[in-house]
Formats: sequence, structure tokens, C-alpha cells
Amino acid sequence: MRKFIIDTDTASDDAVALVMALRHPDIDVKAITVVAGNVPLPQALQNALYTVELCGASVPVYAGCAKPLLRDLETAQEVHGDDGMGDIGLPLKDRAPTAGHAADALRCLINDNAGDIFLVTLGPLTNIALALLREPALAERVAHCYVMGGIGSGHGNVTPTAEFNIWVDPEAAKIVYESGLDITMVGWDISWKYATFDAEQAAEIRRIGTPLAEFVVDIQATLDEFSKAENALPGFDLPDPITMAAAIDRNICQYQKRHVEVTTGGGLARGITVVDWLGVTGREPQIHVATSANRDAFVQLLKRCVS
Ligand code: RIB
Ligand code: CA
Repeated sequence: MRKFIIDTDTASDDAVALVMALRHPDIDVKAITVVAGNVPLPQALQNALYTVELCGASVPVYAGCAKPLLRDLETAQEVHGDDGMGDIGLPLKDRAPTAGHAADALRCLINDNAGDIFLVTLGPLTNIALALLREPALAERVAHCYVMGGIGSGHGNVTPTAEFNIWVDPEAAKIVYESGLDITMVGWDISWKYATFDAEQAAEIRRIGTPLAEFVVDIQATLDEFSKAENALPGFDLPDPITMAAAIDRNICQYQKRHVEVTTGGGLARGITVVDWLGVTGREPQIHVATSANRDAFVQLLKRCVS
């Protein structure tokens, strides 16, 4: 059993990634820490708590930061729905998180399991940055960190060059990327190329017929419409789940280690993950950047987790 901590701004694709980790026999989810992003923190918290309950799991869920370190919160409710879960009428309320702040939970669990924790981040990196600012030595005590964020090579989804998780809190991302944490970055380019689902591909998963199989498809209702209308995709894409798949089975993606910097400017200079592919900066490569993925292996893993 590998010990995972999952940090999430729980909306429709995050929820599928949570299901994968909670249902996989080799993964022991020690905690879920929640951050504002796709939806405001209270909603993200309820979405995470609902998903844990649906999986029949008992995992502590901690509330974290309600806004980025320095900037105002920008949500993505136009992408995932007002409730973040496709606005299909799920009872996403009245569940109680575990007491304590996410940043403190991260510190305690990482220190109590030094060297054994795999950290998977699915939202803005505010909670992670806060924990690292409080105790920089945490960076050496995490076995590996898988980040859904940024762009390896390709176009962004918030600006032509920026991906949502990094763009929402670029200062937090800069702190995390420069912290010494051993990071694998699965950018939105990987999702856009290897984790999209048209109507038939979505129906194939839903036809598995279990409550989880229907859940992981039905909550994509808003994302599906948005992806087709705005992202030039044939249907919804699943960036957090393909990142979780890489965390569960590293061979699902291929990687190259490069120096990566995060821009913290405004406008088009906000939240870019600048990948130094040719090494022209002469700076130490510090991030394993996903360059491709095995879509069939990803889909098979997803199907196994919802069957
Ligand atoms: O850009 C995609 C990322 O932003 C995903 O994690 C999605 O859930 C949103 O948080
Ligand atoms: Ca997310």
C-alpha cells in the first residue's frame, strides 16, 4: 500500500481522481486537503466529502485556504457548474470536515510518515505553499509529488499560455516549484491530448453500470458542454484523473526532467510554466515534465476503479 495525500479544489474531474485513489487496492489515502479553485472552498469541501462517502471510504478531509496567497480567488464555475459537479442536483451539503487546517494536516502527516508520502495536487498550490513556508524541510520528506498543473508544451486553458491551477495562484506555484520538492508535472497538454472523452467513449464507461461508473460520467455535464464549445474538444477531458493515473502507475506517462519556472506577472505574463526544453538557462532541471501518455492504459485503470 502506498500512502497518498491528495490536495484538491474538488470539482467534476477532481472527483474522478479521488474515486480512482479511494478505490484502488494499492493506495492508502491518508488525507484529502481541500483548497479554493474551481469552486469556493465550502463547496469544494462538500464535493470532496460527498465523493469520499460515495466510495464508502473513511478518510479525513481538511479545509485549507479559501483564496490564493496574494490574489483574489478566480473560480471556474462556468466550466464545471455552479456546484462544480455538473449541477445535476447531487446533495452536496451538510457534511462535516475533520477539524484542523489543511496546511497543518499536511505538515503533521508528512512528518509522521517521512519518506513515505506521495502527494498528489489537483488544484491551485496554495495549501502546499503555505505548508512549505511554515516548514521548508517538508520538501525533503515527501517521497514524490504529482502536480496536475501548467503546460508542458502546448496551449493554456485560461490564457493562451497558462493553465488554471497555476494561473489562479502563481505565487504559490513558484514557491512549490522552487522548494526542492521532487515533482512530476502533468500539464493540461497531456489531458487535452490523451484524456478526452467523446459521447461514445463516455457512454462506454457509463455502461459499466455501477453507481461510481454513472457518477464519474454524469458529473461532467457542464464540463462536457464547455469543452466542446470553448476548448475545441470532442467532449469532456479529465486532467486530474490522468495525473492520478500517473501517480498510481508512473509508466502511464513518459517524462523528461527540465528546469521549469513559473511567471507571476499580470495579464498574459501570469501563471506560465516556462519549460526550459533546450537547457538555455543553464539552470538545474528540477521538474519531471510529462511529455506523453498511454491513453489505453489510463482508460483501463479508470474503468477498473469504477467497476
Ligand atoms: O486546468 C485544469 C485544472 O483546473 C484541473 O485540476 C481542474 O479541476 C481545474 O482545477
Ligand atoms: Ca482540480
